[in-house]
Amino acid sequence: MNATRAGHELRVFNDRASMDGAAADLIVHSLRSAVTERGTFSLALSGGSTPRGLYGLLAAPPYREIIDWKATHVFWADERGVPRDHEDSNYRLADDLFLSKVSMPQGHVHRIRGEDDPSSAASAYEDELRSFFGRGDFTFDLVLLGMGMDGHTASLFPGDPAVTENERFVVPVPAEGRRQARITLTLPAINGARAVLFLVAGAAKATMVKAILEGGGSTRYPAGLVRPAGGRLIWYLDSDSARQLRAAF
Ligand code: 6PG
Repeated sequence: MNATRAGHELRVFNDRASMDGAAADLIVHSLRSAVTERGTFSLALSGGSTPRGLYGLLAAPPYREIIDWKATHVFWADERGVPRDHEDSNYRLADDLFLSKVSMPQGHVHRIRGEDDPSSAASAYEDELRSFFGRGDFTFDLVLLGMGMDGHTASLFPGDPAVTENERFVVPVPAEGRRQARITLTLPAINGARAVLFLVAGAAKATMVKAILEGGGSTRYPAGLVRPAGGRLIWYLDSDSARQLRAAF
């Protein structure tokens, strides 16, 4: 099912494997346009369980061969306050599943230093982004995001000051309850992108998917506040997460 409405493109897939394949194809397509127009491709990754299938695909044929890794720079939308080899590290997730298996120059992997003090890590990452993108806005070619059941995205959690940050592009997010400290891109950084892709799967997300895409929750939840000013906003859903949406798009 495909639809374009209310400023976003929506595709619903019968299963996760088709969703992952379409996401890999979107990466290839975005990369080709970016490389043709500017010579490089900047991709921001997320953590969580949903992108695991996609990351696995990127390390396997045909994607491993057709992706121009030497033209690709990889960043992260967020990181947990843990060392790079910790099982909760978003860097480690991507490294284990694909970065270590493709021929990407080491200097093109721009990780957030989760092992450092979160405020210092956030400032250092903002500096790194500024030196990569230059003085203007942060124009990632593609930002890959997930969404939590509470409507969070990256490490922008409902009610947290990071959600309303409008000056800094990267901020620390203090630990809360069982949640580790995090470091996250802010909405100004994400909304500067040329394209943002939400990958969402599972019945547990269905209520929030409906709230954000149809239920007037678009300004109440961080994921609903993602609206690239000059870019594409794309939602890929599996049928379980889309099951509360109206059938006729
Ligand atoms: C993280 C994220 C986070 C994630 C959502 C969805 O580091 O955890 O970047 O925003 O995308 O929590 O996570 P799942 O894919 O596990 O549902």
